Amino acid sequence: MGPARVSRPAGMPPGGERRSPPQDESPLQVIGQLAGGIAHDFNNILGVIINYARFAQGAIPPGSPAAADIEEIRRAAERGVGLVRQLMILARREGGSTVVFDLNELITGLDGFLRSTIGEHIAVERRLDPGLWPLAEDPARIEQVLINLAVNARDAMPGGGALTFETGNAELGAAETAAYPGAEPGRFVRLLVSDTGVGMDGEVAARAFEPMFTTKAAGQGTGLGLATVYTIVTQAGGLVDLSSQPGRGTSIEIHLPASRNAPAASTRPTRAAPAGRGEAVLIAEDDEAVRRVAERILETAGYRISSCPGGVEALELLDDPANGFDLLLADVVMPGMRGDDLA
Ligand SMILES: Nc1ncnc2c1ncn2[C@@H]1O[C@H](COP(=O)(O)OP(=O)(O)OP(=O)(O)O)[C@@H](O)[C@H]1O
Ligand SMILES: [Mg+2]
Repeated sequence: MGPARVSRPAGMPPGGERRSPPQDESPLQVIGQLAGGIAHDFNNILGVIINYARFAQGAIPPGSPAAADIEEIRRAAERGVGLVRQLMILARREGGSTVVFDLNELITGLDGFLRSTIGEHIAVERRLDPGLWPLAEDPARIEQVLINLAVNARDAMPGGGALTFETGNAELGAAETAAYPGAEPGRFVRLLVSDTGVGMDGEVAARAFEPMFTTKAAGQGTGLGLATVYTIVTQAGGLVDLSSQPGRGTSIEIHLPASRNAPAASTRPTRAAPAGRGEAVLIAEDDEAVRRVAERILETAGYRISSCPGGVEALELLDDPANGFDLLLADVVMPGMRGDDLA
């Protein structure tokens, strides 16, 4: 039996009838709308958990059993942040900023993440075309694609194996893009992410891009990884193909429209956290727990902090010249007055 090949989420069922792509499925839209409504609060809560976990980690000896427990708390909260981000992408709420960048650089920049998340038992190989055309996209979204594929590959290779990233340029004609809604013929950047893992049978492969389809145990997988990949790539005017065979591994091939512009100098500048020298900062934030976290971080970094719960209070403090603030840090959505109006 040859490998299963799937180029659309629900693919073509054997009858030849076409099913609609995942973002049109109404349960997903409902989830997206719900998530959109609570994402801001939810991210605040997770941010508070992550930051207090960090404070606690800094206050106890690294080797102690509590340090490991706190690390688990932090990781779980970070998984929550990742989940909200995926839901936002699926709900198309993520704005994102478009930058001209080099995909190779993004892949190379993932090194630290791969080492910590993928594990030593998996060899990571890169075959990156040095003359690669640039992309004009939100790098954070493309990074999400790389991460989701890498994590899937890891899960498919519990006993170890090889994860390969390959890039190259490709010109696709009308015949090649015809089957992909939203893709126009032209110049594409090709990305191939392959693993030597357990692979998928035809049934799993046909459903792999479906939102909330997972073969993983509860708590191990949400089934949003490939749905998010599909959404990001098709919204970018690209193509996704999956090829897999049980016991032989999986390859995900992605084509993203190339940009004719030259990439910006560097996608990710490496900056050291700036240290304050007693500058006066006013924090306006209605969520008390978030406000306290911000105060603590900035105080530790060497700033003088005043804070208040809203824009109206902030204006009063700003009006008093005795305060002499150097910087205002304001939440955008607050009762009474928006942070951007305040600024
Ligand atoms: N590289 C792979 N090798 C084998 N099976 C895969 C691979 N990638 C995806 N799958 C299969 O497709 C299913 C859906 O993948 P998807 O990434 O969408 O969700 P998940 O990994 O189960 O959960 P999540 O990504 O939300 O944590 C997986 O549960 C798995 O059965
Ligand atoms: Mg996944």
